[in-house]
Amino acid sequence: MTTPFLATPASWPAILLGRVKALEANPWDLDAAVRAGAFEGLKAAVRTGATGTIAEVGASGLRGRGGGGYPTGDKWRAAASSAAEQRYVIANGYGADPATQIDAALLAADPWSVIEGLVIAAFAVGATEAYLIVRGDDTALATRLVAAVAEAEEAGFIGDDVAGSGHRVNVIVRGLQGSYMLGEETVLIRALEGRRAAPDQRPPYPTERGLWDRPTVVNNILTLAAVPWILKNGAAAFASVGAPDAPGTALVQLRGPGGAGIAEVPLGTPLGDIASLAGGAGGRPLKALIVGGPTGGFLPADALGTPYAFAPLRDAGAHMGSGSIVIADDRACVVDLARLLTRFSADQACGKSIPCRIGLRRLSEIADRATAGTTRAGDAQLAADLSHDVGASALCDHERTATLALASVLRYFRSELDDHMLRSTCPAGVCTPIAVAAGAASRGASA
Ligand SMILES: Cc1cc2nc3c(=O)[nH]c(=O)nc-3n(C[C@H](O)[C@H](O)[C@H](O)COP(=O)(O)O)c2cc1C
Ligand code: SF4
Repeated sequence: MTTPFLATPASWPAILLGRVKALEANPWDLDAAVRAGAFEGLKAAVRTGATGTIAEVGASGLRGRGGGGYPTGDKWRAAASSAAEQRYVIANGYGADPATQIDAALLAADPWSVIEGLVIAAFAVGATEAYLIVRGDDTALATRLVAAVAEAEEAGFIGDDVAGSGHRVNVIVRGLQGSYMLGEETVLIRALEGRRAAPDQRPPYPTERGLWDRPTVVNNILTLAAVPWILKNGAAAFASVGAPDAPGTALVQLRGPGGAGIAEVPLGTPLGDIASLAGGAGGRPLKALIVGGPTGGFLPADALGTPYAFAPLRDAGAHMGSGSIVIADDRACVVDLARLLTRFSADQACGKSIPCRIGLRRLSEIADRATAGTTRAGDAQLAADLSHDVGASALCDHERTATLALASVLRYFRSELDDHMLRSTCPAGVCTPIAVAAGAASRGASA
C-alpha cells in the first residue's frame, strides 16, 4: 500500500512536491513534467556554467537530507576540485529504513525532479556517469525509472550533449538489495563496485576517493530533488525558506494513532506542528515522538516546540535520520520500543569495529533484561556509559546514532526505565511477564 501525502498549510512552500499535483494523472509523462517546469533548472545550470552552479547551490545553504546535513555546495566543490579524469555522482535512493517509504514515494510521484537534480550535479562536478540507486526489491519502480531515463535522453536532457551544454552525462539506474547498512555511502560504493559491502574508514571521503577510487558525490535523492528548484528560483529564494542554518524543506513520514502519511515541511518547523499534520496522538495524551527512524531518539511531550532541523534535533538527542517521526501515545512503553530499536541497530551493525559490535549487543541485552524483569545491579549505569562510549568512538555514523534510542529514554523517561529496572513494573502494561502497574490503560495489559 502506498503512503499518502498529507495536506500542509497553504503558507508552506512546496519545493519537493510542487509538481506532484500537475503529474497526478501520470507521474511518468515527461511532456506533462516539462510543461510543469521540469528541466528548467538544468537549463539554468547550463547557462550559469559548472562553477556558477556549484556557487549557487552553495549560496542556497542546501544541506544533505540523507541524515548528516553536510553542506551540498561544499561536497560538490570538493569533488569538482579533486584532480581526476573521471568523476561520479550517486543519487542515494536506497531508503535504508525498512519502515519508511519517503524515497520510493518521491520517485513515484515526481521522478523527474530527482533525475534532473542528478544530471545537474553531474554537470556541475564534471562527472560523465551518474548512478540512481533504488531498492532492488522494487523492480517495478526501477523498470519505470530506466524507461524515464531513456525518455529524458531522447529529449536531450541526458546523454552526449546535456541540454546543449556539450557535456556528456550517462544516467544508470541500479537496484541494490542488502541490509540497513547498505544506505551508508561507503557501503553503497562498495556494493556498486561488486565488492563485499562494509563501511570504509573516512577520510578519505568519497569526494576524494569514491567509486573505483575516483572523486564521487553521494547525495540523498531529496537533496538532489531540491537542486532544480534552486537553479530555477535562485539561491536567495531557497535560503528564505526554513531555518537560517537549515534552509529549505524536507519530507517526513508520520505514523501515529491519529493517522499516517508523508508531508513536506519547512526545516525549523516545531515538532508539534508537524505531528499535528497526522492527527497528533489521536486525542489521547502524547507520550513521545520517536524522531529519526530506527536509530532515532525518543523526545517527550514537552519537546513539541523543538524545531525540526539538524542542530536542535541533535541537541535534543534525536536526528532527522530517515525522516521518520513516530507518534506514541500513553499506551506505548518507551522502554519496550527502545529495546526493539536497539535490537535492530545491534543486528544491523556490520561488526567491523568492536565498540559498536559488542557495545550495541550489550545495550540490547540490558534493554531485554529491563523489559523481562531480570535487570542486574548496575545495568542503568552500564547503559548510560555504553550509550556514551559506543557513540563517541564511531567508525561509521551508525555507531553515532544507534545508541540514541536508549540514551534518550535514559534522559527523558528515567522514571519509566526505573519502574522496569528497579520495580519490575511496566507503567504502560506492555511488557510481560513483568508486573503491570495499577491503572495502566493499555492494549498491552491484556496481551
Ligand atoms: C547506517 C546508515 C544508513 C544510511 N542510509 C542512508 C539512506 O538510506 N539514504 C541516504 O541518502 N543516506 C543514508 N545514509 C547517509 C549516507 O551515508 C550519506 O551520508 C548520504 O547519502 C549523503 O547524502 P546527503 O549529503 O545528500 O545527505 C546512511 C548512513 C548510515 C550510517
Ligand atoms: S561503527 Fe558499527 S556499523 Fe559502523 S563500521 Fe563499525 S561495526 Fe560496522
